[in-house]
Amino acid sequence: MQIRSFEEYKNAYELSIKEPENFWAKIAENFVWRKKWDKVLDWNFTEPKINWFINGKLNITENCIDRHLPAKANDIAFYFEENEIGRPVKKITYQELHDEVCKLANVLRSFGVTKGDRVCIYLPMIPEAVYSLLACARIGAVHSVVFGGFSAQSIRDRINDSSCKVVLTSDGAYRGNKQIPMKATVDEALKDCPSVEKVLVFKRTGEKVNMQSNRDLEWDIEINKQRSECEPEIMDSEDPLFILYTSGSTGKPKGVVHSCGGYMVYCCYSFINVFQYEPEQIYWCTADVGWITGHSYITYGPLLAGASSVIFEGIPSYPDAGRFWNIVDKLKVNIFYTAPTAIRSLEAAGLDFVKPYNLSSLKVLGSVGEPINEEAWQWYHKNIGKEKCPIVDTWWQTETGGILISPLANITKTKPSFATLPLPGVQPVLVDDKGKLIEGNGVEGNLCIKFPWPSIIRTTYGDHERCRQTYFATYHNLYFTGDGCKRDEEGYYRITGRVDDVINVSGHRIGTAEVESAINEHADVVESAVVGYPHDIKGQGIYAYCIVPKTTKSQDELRKEILNCVNKIIGPIARPDKIQIVSGLPKTRSGKIMRRILRKVAEGETKNLGDVSTLLDPLVVEEIVKGRL
Ligand code: PRX
Repeated sequence: MQIRSFEEYKNAYELSIKEPENFWAKIAENFVWRKKWDKVLDWNFTEPKINWFINGKLNITENCIDRHLPAKANDIAFYFEENEIGRPVKKITYQELHDEVCKLANVLRSFGVTKGDRVCIYLPMIPEAVYSLLACARIGAVHSVVFGGFSAQSIRDRINDSSCKVVLTSDGAYRGNKQIPMKATVDEALKDCPSVEKVLVFKRTGEKVNMQSNRDLEWDIEINKQRSECEPEIMDSEDPLFILYTSGSTGKPKGVVHSCGGYMVYCCYSFINVFQYEPEQIYWCTADVGWITGHSYITYGPLLAGASSVIFEGIPSYPDAGRFWNIVDKLKVNIFYTAPTAIRSLEAAGLDFVKPYNLSSLKVLGSVGEPINEEAWQWYHKNIGKEKCPIVDTWWQTETGGILISPLANITKTKPSFATLPLPGVQPVLVDDKGKLIEGNGVEGNLCIKFPWPSIIRTTYGDHERCRQTYFATYHNLYFTGDGCKRDEEGYYRITGRVDDVINVSGHRIGTAEVESAINEHADVVESAVVGYPHDIKGQGIYAYCIVPKTTKSQDELRKEILNCVNKIIGPIARPDKIQIVSGLPKTRSGKIMRRILRKVAEGETKNLGDVSTLLDPLVVEEIVKGRL
């Protein structure tokens, strides 16, 4: 399964294009299947219908845990570093992981959760979060993790969209010097979630929480009633494994569905090859389990590979900007995977926070979530990797399940800010706005993928048509990523950012339409338009233009209230950085907002705003430029 040289990469790539079924069958043979598949692949991108390893039977947790036990029962699966510095690291062996997952799976079974039921997970970055995903997978329940930065209303929408039966949460969470309520937020969400029957509450902070009788149960008490063996549910390759909600150009977030077999195969294959993980190495991905990175490259990928990884509860700036490097030094981390936004903020803090630590254990560095600018790349390369660690700039998405374009560490020649080359099995193409293929090198276009890979999105929960519309209808017979991309003279890919109305704030995907509809909930706002603008640390910031015709409030008051609206409806992660109160928006005669102009103004451009002759009222632009924040 592991590629060892560039020559091998080229051969594997060629084979994966010529004979994709043979190529993936060979890789899939490395896993435990209760029944082998009858056919490797059946697909079309028109419905879309994508089935991998058809009629294969498996349980992903058997592959993540049980099959490693004979050789690795006492090896460390996870090192858990708490939020507070100076605490002893907690070590969780593969055997302990097995026992914890089985006990929790049995608790879920005792609640009446069976194959196909949905379970919502709203937890801090603690080992129990990882156990929760695996416990669901053990019994065939479909997990739906909601990131801790989302509001009660966002949790409610997600729970109701997929009718979750159970919620797994904690009393509170530690994040830096803050203590954040979790259970209270869940309580608020559950005021209107008729499908939820049980809530299991882990005690993390010890804060007082309300426990509703017959519904809310204490984690430890329930766990202690259970055996540490749990027969895995046998799943079909195409049974859903999880739902993860993500934002797009329009409407509410959609539940991206991944299935068991293909996701397992691709997650493990990409993990081993991109990071070139070697047995006994210590791997650390700093993501949160609430995002796809936490699913694929904290939970499933590393465990499928039998790796030892770090789970970190806290944030990079607590107690100071040296925390990441302190942990790398303390645990002798070999592979370190983080987001450009973290790199930029630690760069801004200065080298005094790096110097005290010995980073010589590091062998490979990774980046994910947004384009990494050249300056951040160089800083990371020089000061963290000491110019000896390759940086794998991994491009992928919630919908792709795993990394699609990335260097393979120490195999692919890297180039700052380039995700470089596709992994075997991945066939990227660039198209123009009409869908015409852009061939050759030294070109730029919309990034699409023309052939399925095993962990491609299968559907959007409860609404297959939305999946078709969003990803497969823009360009005929292609999966459309929503990203713009350059292919340079060498054939290397460089992702330039979203070409749709999605903004990427600190590596978090936020739909401008969602933020607008949250802002419009404010009684005095009649209309708003939200765009992204370049932000030194976050990559992109959120700039909101709001029309507030009649109000008795000051601009400061209004801004505060608008922020509160967004906080309440989506969560703190979607709060605008800038709110400009305007009397009108630049619209065409047909009423369409010209976002191009708003984006330019937000970026700081005041003169070359392009053609404004089609605008209904060109004076609006002058006012907006004058009032720019
Ligand atoms: O725009 C791309 C950007 O993040 C988007 C996917 O976001 P999400 O589904 O939340 O998944 C993030 C973690 C995989 C993409 O459409 N993106 C992700 N990785 C990169 C990137 N942009 C440039 N370079 C990357 N390495």
